[in-house]
Amino acid sequence: MRQSSLVVVANRLPVDDTVAPDGACEWRRSPGGLVSALHPILQHAPAIWVGWAGGTDTAPTLPDIDGVRMRTVALSEDDVRQHYEGFANATLWPLYHDAVEQPVYHRRWWESYQRVNQRFAEAAAEAAEPGAVVWVQDYHLQLVPGMLRALRPDLLIGFFLHVPFPPPELFMQLPRRAELLLGMLGADLVGFQRAQAAHNFAQLAAKVLQVPATDRRIAVEDRVVRIGAFPVSIDMAEMEVLAARPDVVAHANQLRKDLGEPQHMILSVDRMDYTKGIEHRLKAYSELLADGHIKVRDTVLVQVVVPSRERVEQYQILRDRVEREVGRINGEFGRVGEPAIHYLNQPFDRAELAALYRAADVMMVTPLRDGMNLVAKEYVAARVDGDGALVLSEFAGAAAELTQAYLVNPHDLDGLKLTLMHALEAAPSDVRGRMAAMRAHLRTHDIQAWARSYVTALDRSGSLMTRLTS
Ligand code: F6P
Repeated sequence: MRQSSLVVVANRLPVDDTVAPDGACEWRRSPGGLVSALHPILQHAPAIWVGWAGGTDTAPTLPDIDGVRMRTVALSEDDVRQHYEGFANATLWPLYHDAVEQPVYHRRWWESYQRVNQRFAEAAAEAAEPGAVVWVQDYHLQLVPGMLRALRPDLLIGFFLHVPFPPPELFMQLPRRAELLLGMLGADLVGFQRAQAAHNFAQLAAKVLQVPATDRRIAVEDRVVRIGAFPVSIDMAEMEVLAARPDVVAHANQLRKDLGEPQHMILSVDRMDYTKGIEHRLKAYSELLADGHIKVRDTVLVQVVVPSRERVEQYQILRDRVEREVGRINGEFGRVGEPAIHYLNQPFDRAELAALYRAADVMMVTPLRDGMNLVAKEYVAARVDGDGALVLSEFAGAAAELTQAYLVNPHDLDGLKLTLMHALEAAPSDVRGRMAAMRAHLRTHDIQAWARSYVTALDRSGSLMTRLTS
């Protein structure tokens, strides 16, 4: 069994099962999200990544990806149903996103969550060298830090939550709230996207566990756990290079032609998720069409929705509702060859996304609640031409940093309509000034800076960072 001084533990391995031109199965690094977030730091260390490869009952042996060794954890059909689709995505996910959908509580889901977390903890314990750093990611694995500490007290353990951490009045609903808090407190450093989340966590630790807690430190038994905000980011340089590629620029120009050379192109790119505010956005857009503020010939909306968690009931209901509404709007306002909304429900590759970002005059990112929202940051990174207006929800973590975006409360439909019109009609100097400021921010707050700041805070003795950067 190979071991490493740096082990990342995440629900998913950063790989996709693709089919090569000769028909053979090929594993490739998957783009976007958490995986690209961690990619840069993993390149510098002989790391091991512990995670699920997708599918059920298989633990394929995977090749190293960009020098990172893959250690697969197998999930059975029951694990996927109860741990991933159940406790992670039908209990914790809605609860952590302001309960915009009703969280579902089932005791058997909790049992499965414990079992799967234990499996991940054991795999991480086997992969870690003595004294190694283990960095556990996200809400699927909140018990892993505590379980890992019990197995391997010699390790330096980090935990980072990519999604929001809710206020006490919501978290208190959880039947097994104390266990979840204690699980996270098995880490030496618990990181969140926003300072508010760290504050919520400290308040809950004090209330539920009755331990001394501030927004920076929590005392548990004989240890002090540090907590803090580390807003995640994107690989700015990678997106800039992609967006400047001649084929991507040509594709962006072609997209505008295919759309009939509209005066304005508006874009939204979301996972199909009820947290993303897709229905609120469609309603606002439909009212603007009905009011006559937007005319189909002049303005087009391209709504990309990437399929996600398709077996979870709330996601299926959402898809039906979104598609019914898009059909209604197109039926009412479209013309032959000129739909009001270009709706695409399919995965997109990075180059296609970059071309869409470059083509769009206005990007609408209006989630009801979002840990960060990397799409907003990617849009800014892709605008190497300095153009493009970002309409951004106040409830996305990204709003705390991209303060020059056209910020909006997505629940306020009139506000949403006004802000979209404001962005569409803004003077080019205003649009460019805002974009320049957001791009400057991302240049110094990119993914490399995020990973460095988290690992430096975790590894206070500096030994891992010295190894990583030497
Ligand atoms: O935002 C949380 C997150 O888990 C991301 O890391 C991921 O990209 C996205 O949600 C979709 O996750 P999954 O397909 O694994 O449910």
